Amino acid sequence: MAPVRASTQSVTVRAPAKINVYLGVGPLRPDGFHGLATVFHALQLSDDVVAERDEPGRVSVEVVAEPGSGVDVDAVPCDETNLAHRAAETLRRYAGVECGVRLRIVKRIPVAGGLAGGSADAAAALVACDAVWDTGCGRAELATLGARLGSDVPFALHGGTALGSGRGEHLAPVMSPSRLHWVLAVAEGGLSTPEVYARLDRIRAGRPGAAPSVPDGLLSALRRSDVDGVAAHLGNDLQAPACELRPSLRRVLDTGRELGAVGGVVSGSGPTVAFLASDEAAARDLAADLAESGSCLVAVPTSGAASGARVLAH
Ligand code: C5P
Repeated sequence: MAPVRASTQSVTVRAPAKINVYLGVGPLRPDGFHGLATVFHALQLSDDVVAERDEPGRVSVEVVAEPGSGVDVDAVPCDETNLAHRAAETLRRYAGVECGVRLRIVKRIPVAGGLAGGSADAAAALVACDAVWDTGCGRAELATLGARLGSDVPFALHGGTALGSGRGEHLAPVMSPSRLHWVLAVAEGGLSTPEVYARLDRIRAGRPGAAPSVPDGLLSALRRSDVDGVAAHLGNDLQAPACELRPSLRRVLDTGRELGAVGGVVSGSGPTVAFLASDEAAARDLAADLAESGSCLVAVPTSGAASGARVLAH
């Protein structure tokens, strides 16, 4: 990232949506979270956060949809419950900053879709506020603050393809040299992440499950850029509970496969399905066919891996 001078008044930061190419979920921990073994993958689909310095003590958030993106921002709060707002306040307190900030979030990532859009906004807000306030915090410090805000925030800072452990906050890069092409098909109706985890615990009642691990075959397929190998190892322990809670997800999965997706998996806790396509043209065609099928609200072609939260030229 380019160095940013103390005089910076306004900065724009872009942060990626993510999918979990694999998500293994362990037993419920005493702290209320589940231990994970996951492969995160950052996508070109991204949100932007524009930060401008404001009067001391003032933090405000405005949320708009990128024109033509079709993202419904009505459900996104602009008050202090917004994750980007919380990110700014957390950094302000941590770094002892007097100055305030005005945040403008430009959304392209579908809301409440299991794509970590809120976490992307929080990661972007951390990087943007760090720049306009010139706090001098390093990426590692921002990631530690990010982990307090949500399990997916450290990955939105990190980007690329990464193994995630702990509750998702411990990251190690995964070699994945070639671009992978995906279609994100968002099913109707949101899903609550805690509810999906709780449903998994109920399904597993009495059989809490061993510590999860990522299949070696997936890591070597990613390293070899073997699209069929990646497709064969897509997996998500939250898929079954998400499909129970939102049966329309099953229909989306079936439709994508019938329409020729190389593979498909529910992303995170849903209700988005990530379909793998053989190349960019196949992804574009699949997105058009899925949209026409009426099985999902929206189908977006995209690709990965993309960078973590980064400052755009200004
Ligand atoms: O960290 P995040 O805000 O995304 O977590 C939301 C909820 O999802 C948690 O309160 C918890 O119920 C569930 N969760 C979990 N295990 C994880 C991540 C999230 O049980 N590793």
